[in-house]
Amino acid sequence: MHIVQTRKDLRALVEQWRSAGETIGVVPTMGALHDGHLALVNALEGKATRRIVTIFVNPIQFNNPEDFKLYPRGVEADVALLAATGGVDVLYNPNEHEMYPPGFATRVMVSGLDSMLCGGDRPGHFDGVATVVSKLLNQTGAQIAAFGEKDYQQLCIIRRLVSDMDMPVDILPVATVREADGLALSSRNRRLSPAERQQAALLPAALKTCLAALLAGQPSASALAECATTLQAAGFTVHYLDLRAQQTLQPLSHPEPGARLFVAATLGDVRLIDNMPVSAT
Ligand code: PAJ
Repeated sequence: MHIVQTRKDLRALVEQWRSAGETIGVVPTMGALHDGHLALVNALEGKATRRIVTIFVNPIQFNNPEDFKLYPRGVEADVALLAATGGVDVLYNPNEHEMYPPGFATRVMVSGLDSMLCGGDRPGHFDGVATVVSKLLNQTGAQIAAFGEKDYQQLCIIRRLVSDMDMPVDILPVATVREADGLALSSRNRRLSPAERQQAALLPAALKTCLAALLAGQPSASALAECATTLQAAGFTVHYLDLRAQQTLQPLSHPEPGARLFVAATLGDVRLIDNMPVSAT
């Protein structure tokens, strides 16, 4: 596995591969890697002949400086994990100066989708994501890029971005990887205390209960309100809990086909997000 830190070195490898007719796949990440990230790497098997994992904790997508400071980092462990997993040709790990040299002034904005759900309580977050993902796709020259359904709104925004900007890259969605107790794997889970980690499993459990109630015909307003009350009673601060259309992310009042339940809730000082399709239960 090559470890590359500059655009110049990355370009040299990528140009060599492209001229040899290879297909390049990329998995953009912010590191603190776990099995969810590795599922994205594995999903590219057979779809790309070269796989690149990028690790860059992107400062411009953190609307809260404290959150940026506390975001888990550990490149040595990430390198060891990727080397042990195999199948990754390049780890691209640029620093802030390489990604945003002095004078950097551009922002990419996907309007509409960026102001709801997580965009509502994290202003500017998705501009930061769309900007860095545009750069990473350009820098790696990837023909295919894997993104997790765990960050479903992000996936929708990136699909819109590549379609609107005519980027020659296929977006591969990958199902959410969960712990045995249902908690979606996330780098942020490392910041939960042992007691909070146990509590955190209530989040997917409450979503499942809510989905079952919706499918049993309970009106969605009361099913969602009951779910929010359960989470609040368990110590979560609920930022949103919404039934939405999974293509447009528009609010829905009924659990129609293509509906998805979305939640963001804080436990201690750790913000957790999750989502599930209505058909999952
Ligand atoms: P990060 O949170 O590191 O996630 C990197 C990728 O892994 C994203 O596509 C995310 O959806 C996926 N992922 C995370 N947890 C997962 C899980 N439990 N199951 C399946 N996939 C999972 O998302 C980002 O970084 C950043 O916003 C980024 C796109 C890299 C831009 O900075």
